[in-house]
Amino acid sequence: MSMSGKLMVGNWKMNGSLAANASLLSDILSGMGRVSCRVAVCLPAPYLAQAQSLLAGSAVELGAQDVSAHESGAYTGEVSCAMLRDFAVRYAIVGHSERRQYHGETDATVAHKTQRALAGGITPIVCVGESLAEREAGQTEAVVKRQLATVIHTNGHCISEIVVAYEPVWAIGTGLTATPEQVQSVHAVLRAQLLAATAHAERVSILYGGSMNAANAASLLDQPDVDGGLIGGASLKAADFLSILKAASR
Ligand code: 13P
Repeated sequence: MSMSGKLMVGNWKMNGSLAANASLLSDILSGMGRVSCRVAVCLPAPYLAQAQSLLAGSAVELGAQDVSAHESGAYTGEVSCAMLRDFAVRYAIVGHSERRQYHGETDATVAHKTQRALAGGITPIVCVGESLAEREAGQTEAVVKRQLATVIHTNGHCISEIVVAYEPVWAIGTGLTATPEQVQSVHAVLRAQLLAATAHAERVSILYGGSMNAANAASLLDQPDVDGGLIGGASLKAADFLSILKAASR
């Protein structure tokens, strides 16, 4: 288990507006009284400046949902680490299943983005997870190990600086949550793989994502290798997100 307290990250995906963001962030900040876990929110890139100013001086850190594998130059539409750093961004989600599925990101792309993030002072939140067909075919362990192996191979000893998120694709946005036992068993596999690669595997937070909500958060977060959560839908409602943060602060 990672030693530094739970890490709870909201992934807003392609949602928000200037007005909605202001009200959501203000409701989150005003409800954070008894929250002791680490908290971050990953916004669409155009809103990072707004969020930086609204979150200044608070305990909530800022994240992006993707980052370019390139440093700078002729890469239309891409956002670099240096640009993210200009807005005090601490984290970037890398290899989310939606990017693998709809934007053709391969294990190699994910490994290179991870490498670029680490070199550029951004903590990558590297997502792995199996599809429903892969789970039903008994391939869950093999799939997540293959996804993480490429990242480990490309990043060597720096691997202890990443965050990992296990997000079973069938549990994302579906209301279907993996059971605490299913989650712990995959997290233990990922932990063992990290242990084989670095003496500092205990430093790596392994988050669970996939329909985490106020009702199921506590039982998932109680598992020994669950160091936090990556929360989609429920992070867009202040009351739900705050309940999850409280479950992570016990
Ligand atoms: P949901 O919490 O909406 O299932 O999304 C999970 C996710 O993909 C977070 O990155």
